[in-house]
Amino acid sequence: MKGLILSGGHGTRLRPITYSQQKQLIPVANKPILFYAIEDVIEAGVRDIGIIVGPTKEQVIEMVNNANFNAKISFIEQEAPLGIAHAVKISEDFIGNAPFIVYLGDNILKGGITRHVERFKEGDADASILLTPHENPSLFGCAELKEDGSVKRLIEKPKKPPSNLVLVGVYFFREAIFEAIKNIKPSWRNELEITDAIQYLIDNNFKVGSEIVRGWWKDTGKPEDIIEVNQLILDELEPYNKGIMEGSVIKGKVAIGKNTVIKESMIKGPVIVGKNCKIGPNTYIGPYASIGDNCEIVNGEIESSIIMDGTKINCNKKIVDSLIGKEAKILERNQLPKGHRFVIGDHSEIEI
Ligand code: DAU
Repeated sequence: MKGLILSGGHGTRLRPITYSQQKQLIPVANKPILFYAIEDVIEAGVRDIGIIVGPTKEQVIEMVNNANFNAKISFIEQEAPLGIAHAVKISEDFIGNAPFIVYLGDNILKGGITRHVERFKEGDADASILLTPHENPSLFGCAELKEDGSVKRLIEKPKKPPSNLVLVGVYFFREAIFEAIKNIKPSWRNELEITDAIQYLIDNNFKVGSEIVRGWWKDTGKPEDIIEVNQLILDELEPYNKGIMEGSVIKGKVAIGKNTVIKESMIKGPVIVGKNCKIGPNTYIGPYASIGDNCEIVNGEIESSIIMDGTKINCNKKIVDSLIGKEAKILERNQLPKGHRFVIGDHSEIEI
């Protein structure tokens, strides 16, 4: 079996972070979102993986290669984000006639996909989809099931959803999907939709299975989704302390990287702090914060936020529910006028 992981696209809902960073590389609990997908595929026993790359392909290739995954990884360039089915279409040479997984690189699933991969391999379905109930099905692909539980209809972002079951961004295919993709047309958003390709299989009597996922699933399309998934991942944090404590209090599950100095401060888990950071004095890092490598945080409080590598914060304020890019600066400003207005991207410098 082969794996195809999508790490292209523009990530417009995550601007300004995605002006300089591919969205699947945004860290959650200090690990790029994309790596959760790669690890799930490897855990399911698949060692031949293709990664679809788009506009900022160099970043993705460099980070993935540096991580030395236990798999053969090929990169497949998509000239523009012309749809998930388009990404599958251009990967036909890589896939050959193997059964394969398509995993959207911005999706995170608790519990991985091993169980679903096993079931697909044992069966003879041409395609299998994963579904989960969601309170707002209009934001996703939505499924209508027949009385016997088989799939009747799939609709992408329906205005009037026929059910509350949405498509999770993990699909299992055999080669019939390539025929289906050749027979569909681009949608209103000018993309070749994978939902239309699967609908083609249903309409032409191919076998399409479905399973409901257990545990949580998240599409990390918007900042609030990323903050939430960061919380969910940190809930399962394995604590460690490789740092240097100087008169500090650590409570709960906390992971602290090498050479990080925590001085006269309090860390209340679950919290992860990367390596080579300087935290404190007079700093509180509260539950659900992920602080990247090489950060300096002095004075003030941070809770439920992602602070990326190399950021400096010294503002004596409480920062909550925030996504702060790499090498940003949030510093105190003791001058008039006092008004604040923020549009903060990577490398921004803010004085407050
Ligand atoms: O997350 C689940 C949803 O993913 C499903 O419920 C929908 O049926 C499915 O169409 C998809 O919807 P989105 O609108 O969220 O897809 P998005 O455009 O965000 O793309 C998903 C991922 O695939 C993302 O990591 C970017 C990547 N991608 C996307 C396109 C369109 C590519 O690499 N190339 C592309 O051409």
